[in-house]
Amino acid sequence: MGTIDVDQAFIQEPEHRPSLSTIEGQGIPVIDLSPVTSNNPSLSSIDALVKEIGSACKEWGFFQVTNHGVPLSLRRNLLEASKSFFAQSLQDKKKVSRDETSASGYYDTEHTKNVRDWKEVFDFLAKEPTLFPLTSDEHDDRILHWTNKNPQYPPHFRDILKEYIKEMEKLSYKLLELIALSLGLESKRFEEFFGFGDQTSFVRLNYYPPCPYSHLALGVGPHKDSGALTILAQDDVGGLQVKRKMNDQEWINVEPIPHAYIINLADIIQVWSNGAYESVEHRVIVNSEKERFSIPYFLFPAHDTEVKPLKELIHEHNPPKYRPYKSGKFLLKRFEGNFQKHREENLQIHHFKIA
Ligand code: OGA
Ligand code: NI
Repeated sequence: MGTIDVDQAFIQEPEHRPSLSTIEGQGIPVIDLSPVTSNNPSLSSIDALVKEIGSACKEWGFFQVTNHGVPLSLRRNLLEASKSFFAQSLQDKKKVSRDETSASGYYDTEHTKNVRDWKEVFDFLAKEPTLFPLTSDEHDDRILHWTNKNPQYPPHFRDILKEYIKEMEKLSYKLLELIALSLGLESKRFEEFFGFGDQTSFVRLNYYPPCPYSHLALGVGPHKDSGALTILAQDDVGGLQVKRKMNDQEWINVEPIPHAYIINLADIIQVWSNGAYESVEHRVIVNSEKERFSIPYFLFPAHDTEVKPLKELIHEHNPPKYRPYKSGKFLLKRFEGNFQKHREENLQIHHFKIA
């Protein structure tokens, strides 16, 4: 019998290792978006939807949506393309490796909270070029123009990704409107942060190979997403878990629902809403037998957006809870912490909390 050669970089501290028992019970809300995707919605159905979104954001920070309007064929095509891409040899995948000139490309060395994730990734930018600061130093104004890495295989990969991004944009604008309304804001309140084409959003193709020590490692360690929100397609294997906000803080499985999208609020909405809505911790369990694919779209504003609590939500009894920060500088600091196993905690939104 061979022994498994365990690479220490992947090993989670005991408190973060996945427990083998799974929690049964109420899962995250499933919300039908047809009031905003069908042809003649009634005002009362939109009202009810806004309420539903508001409670899901408050109680969970995570929900699934159905009747979202994204064509199923497109999602299938992208999933197939992703499978073909990752099935190539490492050498072929490394032809489009991510490097210092852009955040786009293939890599298998991401760390979350300083432990290596059991996954491979291909990132693709929504805008070309994507403007991004050269360094995380606040006084350095130099800007890079990031472009995408374009795999030659499978054919039409780039076209499918571009089409998919258009659909993600449409869906994210609908969600932002509903979220704005649920906070008592104007429906288009968030549009100014995304409307001018200068975003730093990207699509990520995640591939989680079967893991021989799935009880010790994680596909993605516990983390919160740092954008505004994330729209995730997962396949039917399962593995995503959410930290329940209510009382016990248990890890809850996010059950795969065919064709649904998983929406999670991320750090920037937490700050914009001055903490009314929170970015929620989640992680990915790996499977010892099955491979798993997922496709998150991370919605981010322009790099130079100053992220701070919205003035409409601030008043005498609700003073700002967060210091303003530049979206791009924050993301860059986070990236810098993502490629090695080191001891100190990497940058988190609570570091901007006003004591
Ligand atoms: C992520 C993430 C979840 C998944 O990539 O940030 O949380 O199910 N992924 O792949
Ligand atoms: Ni995430």
